[in-house]
Amino acid sequence: MLARRGTHLLARSSNLPRRTLSTTRSRSAVYILPVDPQSPSSPVTDVDAAALWNSAPAPKDKKAAKAGTTRIFYDTPNGGKGKDITALTSLGDKWTSKSDEQKREVVRRAVGSAIKAVKALGDGVDGETVLVDASADPHAAAVAANLALYDFTLKTKPQSHFDPRNTGSLPERLELRSLSESDAKAWSDGVVYARAQNLARTLSELPGNMMTPTAFTERVQAEFAGLPNVDIFARDQEWAAEKGMRTFLSVAKGSSEPCKFLEIHYRGAASDVQPLLFVGKGVTFDTGGISIKPAGGMELMRGDMGGAAAVCSAALAVAQLKLPVNLVVLCPLTENMPGPGANKPGDIVYAMNGKSIQIDNTDAEGRLVLADALYYGTSTYQPHSVVDVATLTGAMMIALGEVYTGVFTNSDTLWQDLEKAGKVEHDLFWRMPLSDAYAPQITSSNADLCNIGGRSAGSCTAALFLKSFVAGVESSEESDSEPGVRWAHLDIAGTMESARGNDYQGKGLTGRPTRALIELVKQSAIA
Ligand code: BES
Ligand code: MN
Ligand code: ZN
Repeated sequence: MLARRGTHLLARSSNLPRRTLSTTRSRSAVYILPVDPQSPSSPVTDVDAAALWNSAPAPKDKKAAKAGTTRIFYDTPNGGKGKDITALTSLGDKWTSKSDEQKREVVRRAVGSAIKAVKALGDGVDGETVLVDASADPHAAAVAANLALYDFTLKTKPQSHFDPRNTGSLPERLELRSLSESDAKAWSDGVVYARAQNLARTLSELPGNMMTPTAFTERVQAEFAGLPNVDIFARDQEWAAEKGMRTFLSVAKGSSEPCKFLEIHYRGAASDVQPLLFVGKGVTFDTGGISIKPAGGMELMRGDMGGAAAVCSAALAVAQLKLPVNLVVLCPLTENMPGPGANKPGDIVYAMNGKSIQIDNTDAEGRLVLADALYYGTSTYQPHSVVDVATLTGAMMIALGEVYTGVFTNSDTLWQDLEKAGKVEHDLFWRMPLSDAYAPQITSSNADLCNIGGRSAGSCTAALFLKSFVAGVESSEESDSEPGVRWAHLDIAGTMESARGNDYQGKGLTGRPTRALIELVKQSAIA
């Protein structure tokens, strides 16, 4: 396993005190120990962190080492066979004077950098016990460790340490443990958050041929298997036709792959408690349809079900954490293909709520599948709040890039809840305008609505389009009071993918905003 260890040796610590924490282990372990470079210590181990940290080369910048600077030590004596790797990682300058929000992100970056550094040794961490000193912030440490250890690959050589096609989002042989027992709950909750996000990454990364609407529903059902208070329905095309979901089906009929309408019900509260509703765009591959996309970069459209992946994964965590809420999740799942039955530009369809829509561009399919899902969900389940998540517009990527998810909402309080949840998990949101002033751009065709609104403010016109299908959205009596139903549309077209990644999450499809959604539900359960 760690055969090449010697070639990467940075420092030896044979004269340092023995740590007593280790129990009898047959394998070696990786220790991830975040330290304040001003006064390095590891309260939950007997590692002499100060001696180790200061024994490393480059004495001058030791105290100012920026967050994530990692020093790796081999062969620290530990009462075992001397096979351990100890990674000390800096919490950065001025650690003690930082706010809680800043500290959490520093912990994530430090833990992530250390795991990245250990992975970069080339031996992998497969089969190792990874022990993280989580005392600085157990939730953030658990999140970062689990996100950083995740790798998506279908390469057959070297063989992947876990098969993304199967349930379970971390390598089986990897044992990830916290070294701060007192904070065990925060650690184990953090593991649930991160594993949910890793599932969303997997669902998004799996290519269109593997992650069809049918495969998506089967995988989600397998992930939920055995969890109490959950009902899952994988509706088919006939069911959708009976419900009158004509705009959803107009997209599906361009593909020979059967569509699905996935419905998850989690009952964590009394049956008379109004539910929260999540709706996720589940286009398992978006070619654009007859308004076909250019070839370059089209492979990214395997992730056009990122909204569905995030809401299902968040719901899984909510059920695992047994949060005291009722939650309904709806995902219209289909391919957008230019098959012989496909929508043609100029076609007009009547949505489930009776409104007519002119489809001038078949590539604006997300709003079509969401229109019926939003109307069905809001008219059937009378939720107190609705959050839809969708890789909806390329314009969103232009506006906010991969940093912020754009939020369009009719509710100031829902915006505040989302902003807070996003900050807690550093899964950030930025509020965008949901304004009727954009209406002329999408109402100038032969139908009630047109599915495109011109180049300008493309994300804003898409959001306003969706508003027409949210039942109860306009029912407020006074103009400045909260609306009848709180609705937020999250456009994740920019945040679905990270080109560079960060210290704790590699590049690729991100699984965002899974963690922020879990946190939103958790906060609403506390309130
Ligand atoms: N799935 C795309 C949006 C997208 C683009 C997500 C790039 C992530 C990265 C969506 O279905 C789409 O094609 N939108 C069109 C809408 C336009 C035709 C009004 C777009 O943004 O170009
Ligand atoms: Mn499209
Ligand atoms: Zn799309």
